[in-house]
Amino acid sequence: MTDNLNDDNLYRLAVELIHNETLLQATLSNKRRKEPQHADKVKMKPVILKGERKYQFTYQVGPKVIHENRNADQAAGHLTQLLREQFKQGLWQTAEADYQILVNKKGKAAILKKPATKKTIELSHNRKKKYLLEEGTPVPYLVELGVMNAQGKVLAAKYDKFRQINRFLELVDDVVSELPRNRPITVIDFGCGKSYLTFAMYHYLTYIKKLNVRAIGLDLKEDVIAHCSALAAKLQYTNLNFYVGDISQYNDINEVDMVVTLHACDTATDAALDKAVRWGARVILSVPCCQHELFKQLDNPVLAPMLEHGIIKERLSALATDSVRARLLELVGYKSQIVEFIDMEHTPKNLLVRAVRQAVSEESLRKLAAEYKQFKQFLHIDPYLERALQDRLEGLL
Ligand SMILES: C[S@@+](CC[C@H](N)C(=O)[O-])C[C@H]1O[C@@H](n2cnc3c(N)ncnc32)[C@H](O)[C@@H]1O
Repeated sequence: MTDNLNDDNLYRLAVELIHNETLLQATLSNKRRKEPQHADKVKMKPVILKGERKYQFTYQVGPKVIHENRNADQAAGHLTQLLREQFKQGLWQTAEADYQILVNKKGKAAILKKPATKKTIELSHNRKKKYLLEEGTPVPYLVELGVMNAQGKVLAAKYDKFRQINRFLELVDDVVSELPRNRPITVIDFGCGKSYLTFAMYHYLTYIKKLNVRAIGLDLKEDVIAHCSALAAKLQYTNLNFYVGDISQYNDINEVDMVVTLHACDTATDAALDKAVRWGARVILSVPCCQHELFKQLDNPVLAPMLEHGIIKERLSALATDSVRARLLELVGYKSQIVEFIDMEHTPKNLLVRAVRQAVSEESLRKLAAEYKQFKQFLHIDPYLERALQDRLEGLL
């Protein structure tokens, strides 16, 4: 179906589409006169430059292409004037509709509204981060784990896993510079389970980043560990070893550079963080699983409208647990960040605490500790990690 819009609406339409940020692209074509200084074709699209939305005009003048960026408040006037004075035709595209515009000799425009042919565009000028693992390139551990076939095609049922591994490697890549290069390093994955991410991390650090890595996966499940050990042997990953054990009881090594713990149940994550702090690990990457501990403790009448709903209480306790862990790590000498691990649509357990060892001034520590004390009193909580790290927190809490 097409709509006829009144000619006077041209400028108003441009203002509306630009100001409500629905315009995806505008194309001006069919040059009215053969003026050499006039462009043969003009395209305009929104771009984000240094976090600000601008409109980029691209002029095709003979073989030359000229770019010009304008603010939103100048873009509508310039676009309309160019179309009226220099072109016979325009196509303005939004995700909801296409607007086809025909301009007559007197500069009067007829606007036809048609079904949309463009759905969305990539706004950022910064190129999207490339996947560290590319589909189409077979990687032996991914083939063995059943994520890819021998030709490198990712199996449909494993696509989410493939994306998760890629995202995890991005997060590892972000902290590689924190790891020492002048000596062998030790990396441990607590609660490694089937170890998709452990294999990925080992492969990435050893073969792509060329670090001298010794990696360990630890889990309670004997059968899973036996399977992972057999796979490591098959892949000839000689410095990757798997052991059966409980995180809190693990005392087999004295020095670890990076501790990873992904989706280990409840306070098993806290036990892993406690170990990491005591080893003085440079880097900690931690994604929680179920967070029962604070769920049982949370209590404040002010929060009654939230706490009376089980699902809200569960989410609140999960967020409080992540916040407590991140803050306690800061209080014992780390810089913590909480970042999204993978989209919410795949799992709600998607927040990763990334902590890197870093000296913090006494003054900052006091402020962070005071905030933490108020927070825990407000929620009426007594977290495992604080109790475990009591000796390290002395004088602060
Ligand atoms: C949900 S799986 C996650 C596996 C893997 N890290 C991942 O993210 O794909 C959690 C794993 O943690 C292990 N686990 C839980 N508590 C543990 C503990 N106290 N010590 C060692 N492993 C533990 C479980 O056996 C299970 O294999």
